[in-house]
Amino acid sequence: MKAPSTSANLGAGFDIVAVAHDAYFANASVKVESGCGVVVKFKKFDPGPRNTVAAALSHLFHRLDLCKHVEVEIDNDIPIARGLGSSGAAAVAAITAFLREANISIDYKIVIEAAGFGEVAAAGSPHFDNVAGAAMGGAVVLVSTSPLEVVKFTPRLLFVIGVPDVPPMPEKTKIMRSVLPEVVKFGKYVNQLAKVAALVSGFALSNPAITALGMDDDVVEPARAPHVPGYMRVKKYAREAGALGVAISGAGPSIIALVDEKHSDGVRAAVSRAYIEEGIKAEVKIAQVTEGALFL
Ligand code: HSE
Repeated sequence: MKAPSTSANLGAGFDIVAVAHDAYFANASVKVESGCGVVVKFKKFDPGPRNTVAAALSHLFHRLDLCKHVEVEIDNDIPIARGLGSSGAAAVAAITAFLREANISIDYKIVIEAAGFGEVAAAGSPHFDNVAGAAMGGAVVLVSTSPLEVVKFTPRLLFVIGVPDVPPMPEKTKIMRSVLPEVVKFGKYVNQLAKVAALVSGFALSNPAITALGMDDDVVEPARAPHVPGYMRVKKYAREAGALGVAISGAGPSIIALVDEKHSDGVRAAVSRAYIEEGIKAEVKIAQVTEGALFL
């Protein structure tokens, strides 16, 4: 089973919005045997025993009161610690592979919940945006976190994704969450509400121009941008080349630009040039909204 890369937040939708895209995929295969336990092998980067896959499966077994012995193999093409939901996609792919192999069908919310709790192993706290995107696909909005409620939209949106090859920041998500403001002025709050509404409306109408209004973010981006290598230049060049909106992908350091077809190659070239001028090696891809693991 495979799960796609995701970009959480998409600007103003901090912790409640994510888009699934076909930039990269995480693949999982699972063997189910009698007994209890989880063994995870990673074909590429091995995060060690405290990984999201083992944590998510353990949470799932506990939640369903199940005792199974599973051996999971993860072949993950999504670059890790890049704000592309790599660890969450691995967990979602493993859970869906397990459910298929064991012939168990459960509410999709339990999949998201288990994979979201798996994120504690990578980020220090549970969050559900990336895993909801990886599981459901499309553009997802968490309309409630407790109890978990997710609405999925299937807009036709095209992106340029810039993935800088910089050394992974240890405990990146934890650090990027620690720089966030504790207090937001009321005027800014109202402004941010309008932007989140723009994201959701843009998804519902499959309208890139409306969606892009929500990619501007006066709350999280200013706090995080100084910690994202090359971000201001990448954003400037992408906008000059015709990107409709540009945002930090999840907690960074990747960036996501919303483009129309006419400008996609130009924005891709502009983002590449910005990284070159910053002296940063980067992979820059064009990607579109894709389906999630539960539907692939
Ligand atoms: N919404 C989360 C954040 C995503 O921005 O901290 C982290 O992958």
